[in-house]
Amino acid sequence: MPRARVLSGVQPTGALHLGNWLGAIRNWVELQDSHDTFFCVVDLHAITVPHNPAQLADDTRSTAALYLACGIDPTKATVFVQSQVPAHSELCWLLNCVTPLNWLERMIQFKEKAVKQGDQVSVGLLDYPVLMAADILLYDADLVPVGEDQKQHLELARDIAQQRINARFAPKDAEGEPIPVLKVPEPLILKEGARVMSLTDGRSKMSKSDPNEGSRINLLDPPELITKKVKRAKTDPVMGLEFGNPERPETDNLLGLYALLSGKGRDAAASECADMGWGTFKPLLAETLVEALRPIQERYNDFNADPGELDRVLKDGRERANAVAQATLNRTRAALGFLP
Ligand code: AMP
Ligand code: TRP
Repeated sequence: MPRARVLSGVQPTGALHLGNWLGAIRNWVELQDSHDTFFCVVDLHAITVPHNPAQLADDTRSTAALYLACGIDPTKATVFVQSQVPAHSELCWLLNCVTPLNWLERMIQFKEKAVKQGDQVSVGLLDYPVLMAADILLYDADLVPVGEDQKQHLELARDIAQQRINARFAPKDAEGEPIPVLKVPEPLILKEGARVMSLTDGRSKMSKSDPNEGSRINLLDPPELITKKVKRAKTDPVMGLEFGNPERPETDNLLGLYALLSGKGRDAAASECADMGWGTFKPLLAETLVEALRPIQERYNDFNADPGELDRVLKDGRERANAVAQATLNRTRAALGFLP
């Protein structure tokens, strides 16, 4: 039995934060032993909003280095850069031509980002989910681990594969049964830690695009900065911490982070902190965060000290990814009737 295939990716826009780690990359690390894993740095997605060309390459390398620093092992997983595998752009075009415009116009993330961009919205921003579908479908992925916010994009990828490609273009075998062109993927959304909220507003998610640096903890933040951000994090005047109180979203979030990163779990953390004041809890949380991020930061610095090692990993990843992606692209081209 071949192992189930997993594909996921993160954009190289700005520094990766706790949400990216706990909602995405941490889960990848667990999957690499049991699954056939592909993890890409989705740099083509990063230019769907205005970007700085002087920074794109550095951000791409740094994101890849953070994958490795978080525990992705290139002897087990294929780590690569999206733009270095041209099949992503090409399959995206083929899928564009069968995807109804109104499927894209109703994407929540597009609507949110479009509001922020005003009249500067690019066609690429609208097309973002089709490129993401291409990323996934090229690798015949069975499972796609993502945060909750990406669920709608995943459903779109499934609909494109199923309704727009397989249902219309599948070739028939000798018995007249259709042979699916693209594999229909499943989302893998992990509950605990799946949504890390902003430190300054417990009702909105921690995000790279929040203009307030104090709203997030970046994976490469030094200990003093982590402590400072935790100290300034929004709280409430209530004594004692608890889960699940809708009036106290910040408390829920901070206690959740403590439960997860201390390794104690939710029940133990909730009883430990039930009568704790913020003056005791915040230093405890800061310490826990610093300790959890320390090994990641150390490994990241090792990769920075030896850039050749990262280049080798990405070259090897590109070759492996390219072989798989090209085969799927060829299959799709053939199904759509292109000259070989
Ligand atoms: P992005 O930072 O939007 O490129 O997201 C990269 C990955 O991290 C995706 O799988 C997201 O779902 C996940 N992610 C981003 N922000 C958060 C967050 N605040 N909580 C949990 N997961 C997140
Ligand atoms: N859209 C995803 C995000 O913002 C990133 C992404 C692009 C992705 N292509 C993907 C995630 C393919 C999973 C699979 O998080």
